Amino acid sequence: MAKEKTWVATVAEIPPGRLHYVDIDGLPIALANVAGTIYAFGDSCRHEGGPLSAGVLIEDTVTCPWHGWTYSVRTGKAIVPPIGIRIPVYEVSVEEEDVFVVVDWPDG
Ligand code: FES
Repeated sequence: MAKEKTWVATVAEIPPGRLHYVDIDGLPIALANVAGTIYAFGDSCRHEGGPLSAGVLIEDTVTCPWHGWTYSVRTGKAIVPPIGIRIPVYEVSVEEEDVFVVVDWPDG
């Protein structure tokens, strides 16, 4: 795996309680600001690919705008339904006013 850190946004673009969409080399990623901590996760819902960054964020839970599947933005685990499914989560690094996301790209 090749780890790559990419600048994605400024902190000001993602105020607390808000979601934000970014694309890293074609990989759709949603960012969520939960009480000042920024999390990054796959933007595509595991149900039918709904855009999670256009969903609803309540505390650390994001609800898909299409049919209401719900995930923890911290762990990527589905909360309702179906338990056991998860979306990918990514490492976030905040350096002063800049937000970076680390993606582990498959080799090759
Ligand atoms: S696409 Fe997300 S709940 Fe259906």
